[in-house]
Amino acid sequence: MRIVLIGFGNVGQGFAEILRDYGEQYRRALGFRPLLVGVATRSRGVVYHPDGLDPAALLDAIASGSLHNYPDGASLLRLPNADALIATAAADVLIEASPSDLQTAQPALHYCEQAMARGWHVVVANKGVVVQGYASLSALARQHGRQFRFEATVMAGTPTMMLGLDALAGAGITRLRGILNGTTNYILTHMESGMSYAAALAEAQRLGYAETDPTADVDGWDAAGKAVILARTLFGANVTLADFHVQGIRGISATDMALAHEAGATYKLIATVTPQGGNVQPVRVPLDDPLASVKGATNAITFSTTLLGDVTLIGAGAGRVQTGYALVADLLALR
Ligand code: HSE
Repeated sequence: MRIVLIGFGNVGQGFAEILRDYGEQYRRALGFRPLLVGVATRSRGVVYHPDGLDPAALLDAIASGSLHNYPDGASLLRLPNADALIATAAADVLIEASPSDLQTAQPALHYCEQAMARGWHVVVANKGVVVQGYASLSALARQHGRQFRFEATVMAGTPTMMLGLDALAGAGITRLRGILNGTTNYILTHMESGMSYAAALAEAQRLGYAETDPTADVDGWDAAGKAVILARTLFGANVTLADFHVQGIRGISATDMALAHEAGATYKLIATVTPQGGNVQPVRVPLDDPLASVKGATNAITFSTTLLGDVTLIGAGAGRVQTGYALVADLLALR
């Protein structure tokens, strides 16, 4: 399976780390041979090798500042940009993992359309692409007989889309409710134990949980983007960000947190999703509510269903390798 990767930040590097550390095991145990043939960054180089790039050498090159430091070799091409890579590469799958722009989704959406036109499957970690392009890319995928997959966009590698779209597809999902942003849950958890908001945010950025622009996290828009993705894909609802009431966590102070604790509660940023839209807002949750025990960058989602009642999934919500794994899960599903 020949893969072109666009974006080599936290998620792309997490994916490369998995290929470096587990590639051999995947080949032996699963007969799965993902081959990274091209990687494009916006300003840190673009490389292509038809026989595959070495994930360890890619990681060393980017750690030293740029893919320009990837070792030269026969058949290695250095290209000017992602467009040139998509036009040149012989590949089976495009992975789009550049920073999410929830409003325009560009240039990522354009890259995904180009890849579909070349007959490649498209796997994205980029939330903007699904928020803005779900209908058009799904149609293109049908037209070309290829798949459009986006497990990484919600709850990192915790299989939320696969559970909702596959296993629960016939259970009658009526409503979703949960903690869908790792950064804000990390901040709130650490504020509970006395860390300042600013220090907790800085740590969430250092650990690779936050968006490139972390205002998307703290103001609730990242969770709202995920809510739109869930509503569009699981409810077939034609909703946009405008159908959600969105409030972030900036208004929650250390004092609010302490007062909530004295009253046997804590604050969580909760997203509620229905076929009509919903909301994202800080909610004072009693400490005996299961959501109160979801700590750090862990996320949780409860699927309310007609046939099963509530089904709750708890797992990683952010992180390099945790999100990189969602890309592996999508690739495994393409085999
Ligand atoms: N910034 C996001 C979060 C990354 O903190 O949840 C995962 O989508």
